[in-house]
Amino acid sequence: MKIISVVGARPNFMKIAPFIRSIEEYNKSANDKITHILVHTGQHYDDRMSKLFFEELNIPEADINLGIGSGSHSEQVGYTMIEFEKVMLLEKPDWVVVVGDVNATLACSVAAKKLNIKCCHIEAGLRSGDMTMPEEINRLVTDRLCDLLLTPDKLSGQNLKAEGVSDKKIGFVGNIMIDTLDANYNKAAKLTFSQIIENNALHPNHIQIESEKYAVMTLHRPSNVDNKDILEPMLNFLIDEVGAEMPLIWPIHPRTAKQLEVFGLWEKVKNAKSLVLLHPLGYFEMLRLNMNAKIMLTDSGGLQEECTVLGTPCLTMRWNTERPVTLKEHGGVSVLVGNNINRLKEEFIVAMKLNRFPVRPELWDGQTADRCLKAILGYKE
Ligand code: UD1
Repeated sequence: MKIISVVGARPNFMKIAPFIRSIEEYNKSANDKITHILVHTGQHYDDRMSKLFFEELNIPEADINLGIGSGSHSEQVGYTMIEFEKVMLLEKPDWVVVVGDVNATLACSVAAKKLNIKCCHIEAGLRSGDMTMPEEINRLVTDRLCDLLLTPDKLSGQNLKAEGVSDKKIGFVGNIMIDTLDANYNKAAKLTFSQIIENNALHPNHIQIESEKYAVMTLHRPSNVDNKDILEPMLNFLIDEVGAEMPLIWPIHPRTAKQLEVFGLWEKVKNAKSLVLLHPLGYFEMLRLNMNAKIMLTDSGGLQEECTVLGTPCLTMRWNTERPVTLKEHGGVSVLVGNNINRLKEEFIVAMKLNRFPVRPELWDGQTADRCLKAILGYKE
């Protein structure tokens, strides 16, 4: 069997690493070995957004890099389809495996199905219901097309069934990101706060970080960072109110860094004494900070999930989530606060009083990748 796996952007790397490991393990004893080809579309290309994750997570260098780079959504999707089609025509895979919800996920599943190649989506069935979110379009199209839909939780399976997907296409496998978290927890735990800050400082700041006495924030969604009227009040809250309680460690995504410049907010951020401004962090570093943060403020989907397993109180700076299993009402640790400052304030006060409360949704057990591979090998049309 020949499988092509696809990655494109940062959140894909921690999902593909355990899957590749499962293939390697399988090949050690199988008579009929799997030929695996890793394709990187090149959507994320900076060392800190890509190469570092390959190194840390021991992902073999991509066999093929499509070099797509930055661009509008249609540019990224269109160029990826064109280049990926060439790869498939040459390699003739039995399966294409896509993960997550980035532009690579959409582009490569469409291109694969146009060539009538079987396609498997790992992390299928997540729905935010928000069609202004590019990722929601990617999820819907990918799941509509794929032959095998491997879901992280029961709610995702219900979403697919409600859309009319037949049971035999759906496999409940658990959350593959948690395989990566479990596999790397001990390595990450060895890092010190001072190492992380020294190695990644974007702007010098001599704040000392103490365990359980710091907040971490990540912010990159266009809905939060592409509009000054939304971004500026949030910054004021973060600097004046979160910063008054404890240092706020903020690894800044390239999109956000660009927007801070464009909106003339960079000086304000740099001068804020309580902000620890960092470059985008590696996987271990982020995991280390998450382990002992008093609170996480984020608009990332993956961090909501990691906070759930680590028990870090999480304010999700979005109005909806495709990952409801992480929310308090479903037993998780995260609350949706959108970008409404009053709501942020209220929930910040509540979260500050909370203790860590780790939760493991069903099958978030570190064994998901093996179940994914088993589902592919056992697939019957
Ligand atoms: C993408 C994903 C999003 C994911 C996020 C994690 C889609 C639709 N979005 O959004 O789901 O949560 O990655 O990071 O696929 N840039 C760099 N260096 C890089 C990559 C990007 O400077 O290595 C710049 C780009 O030029 C662009 C901005 O960052 O201006 C955004 O990059 P892009 O890949 O378009 O989307 P993300 O916002 O990162």
